Amino acid sequence: MKLPLALVFALTLPIIRAQVPHWGPCPEPAVQTAFSLKQFMGRWFEIAKLPAQFEKGRCIETNFTLTTSNSIRVVSSEILKGEVKKIEGIGVVEDIKNPAKLGISYSYVLPYSPYWILSTDYVNSALVYSCTDILRLFHVDFAWILGRTRTLPESTIEKAKEIFANNNIDVSRMIPSRQMGCEKML
Ligand SMILES: *[C@@H]1O[C@H](CO)[C@@H](O)[C@H](O)[C@H]1NC(C)=O
Repeated sequence: MKLPLALVFALTLPIIRAQVPHWGPCPEPAVQTAFSLKQFMGRWFEIAKLPAQFEKGRCIETNFTLTTSNSIRVVSSEILKGEVKKIEGIGVVEDIKNPAKLGISYSYVLPYSPYWILSTDYVNSALVYSCTDILRLFHVDFAWILGRTRTLPESTIEKAKEIFANNNIDVSRMIPSRQMGCEKML
């Protein structure tokens, strides 16, 4: 079946929104070897992200809790317009041979989105990538640098960007997340 390109765009535009889709299928980055889901649990702050979403909330953080040996509870929060907003989701290891490749869903009606841990030392930083193929014609992706603290040294951020780039992930448009003035709210 060959779909006219205009129809493909009409069907997928809501997904793309402000993002620039990249042509071709998703890259296949290497993920964290011997990934320990248990060690990854707990509180992570969003340090930087792709794509740029300037209008979104600040002080974004996620708290992961193990529910079974291969499933987790995911609670993300942010401050938006002076209010703390929380969303809860579930995450699963879809293939126990690939524990660093999680799927996360924030609603029973939504499918699991990939949530791949490309690299982490569990105690300082983590690199997360999510990519969805659209008919293998193009792909839409998200990338995050997470920290156990609200800020990370610039050298850690630069190193993280290098790892993404070495895996054919374009992080030139990655923007720092705002993690200032958070403590008085949360
Ligand atoms: C993370 O979730 C666990 C389990 O629900 C809870 O006990 C803990 O206080 C939470 N931590 C933060 C920082 O929200």
